[in-house]
Amino acid sequence: MPPTAPAVAPAVLDVVALRAQFPALDGGAAHFDGPGGSQIPTVVAEAVASTMTAPMSTRGSVTRAEQNSDSHVLAARSALADLLGAQPGGVVFGRSMTALTFDLSRTLAKDWGPGDEVVVSRLDHDANIRPWVLAAQAVGATVRWAEFDPETGELDPQAFADVVTDRTRLVAVTGASNLIGTRPDLPAIAGIAHDHGALLFVDAVHLAAHASVDLVGSGADVVACSPYKFFGPHCGAFAADPAFLETLQPDKLAPSSDAVPERFELGTLPYELMAGTAAAIDFMADLVPGTGSDASRRERLVRSLAAVEAHELELRGRIEAALAELPGATLYSRAAHRTPTLLVGFDGHDSSAIYRFLADRGVNVPASNFYALEASRALGLGDAGALRIGLASYTDDDDVARLLDGLDAWFARA
Ligand SMILES: Cc1ncc(COP(=O)(O)O)c(C=O)c1O
Repeated sequence: MPPTAPAVAPAVLDVVALRAQFPALDGGAAHFDGPGGSQIPTVVAEAVASTMTAPMSTRGSVTRAEQNSDSHVLAARSALADLLGAQPGGVVFGRSMTALTFDLSRTLAKDWGPGDEVVVSRLDHDANIRPWVLAAQAVGATVRWAEFDPETGELDPQAFADVVTDRTRLVAVTGASNLIGTRPDLPAIAGIAHDHGALLFVDAVHLAAHASVDLVGSGADVVACSPYKFFGPHCGAFAADPAFLETLQPDKLAPSSDAVPERFELGTLPYELMAGTAAAIDFMADLVPGTGSDASRRERLVRSLAAVEAHELELRGRIEAALAELPGATLYSRAAHRTPTLLVGFDGHDSSAIYRFLADRGVNVPASNFYALEASRALGLGDAGALRIGLASYTDDDDVARLLDGLDAWFARA
């Protein structure tokens, strides 16, 4: 019998059509700097601009201007909830993931004291380490470290099982390393944390641009992201179960709302950035043509991100194969399950010099520790780090060719 065609064709990303949505790509550079912040599609910039030129006031229900602002808040929460697998009422918006994590760490630490413990991972961006370390220190709680294996790039759940105890109040871990891409087994880590009565805080800032994030499915209690990593404006958000947020008492002004999630959102919200965030999430949901108009935005996001993963994986394979041929190349991104984020160094060559050399050729591949300072040191790269080749959904074959040509040119002259 001939094979039957699948009922639904696999979703494929149309990279040519996608790139046409990004005016910044006309600037001529090959952007491998997405992990630092993606380029922005026109539709997002227009959403920000049109919000700012429409009647706008502090959120409320009386005037048209108040209603406009209110609708942007509700729309952004709804979009972020779809992106993160959460409820709109549990989405908290803020200036950045770093600022939100500092705020939440201080709130949670009101209930910690000597003898309590927090667990952070050596793999994480410092934004998911230092707030917890400082909050723990301020109340005399103990910090324990879950170590990753620099040889394999893996962060084994056993590393958490080794240090989580019944005194652990919170475990903080990344959904994906912004330095080497490693994607830890979140449900397994959540199980370990919850078995000991601890909360799990997941930093999905790097992950969200590359794969579906799922607050409930991953077992996390809180999941944080930053829209500027996935086509949105520069801001941050986290999501949690609203019932859990009801149990927390952040510092707030006396007249400001005590409702959840408003209780956590200090000052006036950036309505225009919230409109841009909702537009970015809609843009992501529509990255691949739909199979039916009745699919929910969450379903469309999951399907589109699967297509993004497939596209990025294909390019990643080509780059990795080419890197293996280059003299003295060390690829630090080695975990079995990871984002297309390639940290690479070359024996005897200064990464920052290669960074500048490639930049002169219009190929943006920064070199740094990228604030994953602990991980960079654990990898033996000190504070300097190495080159990070970050793929994005808009990366195309020409970008890859320019990157590899640029590296060849470096070695031809060096
Ligand atoms: C993995 C990861 N976590 C946290 C952050 C900090 O995010 P924000 O700039 O929103 O504070 C970054 C920024 O690069 C990141 O890559």
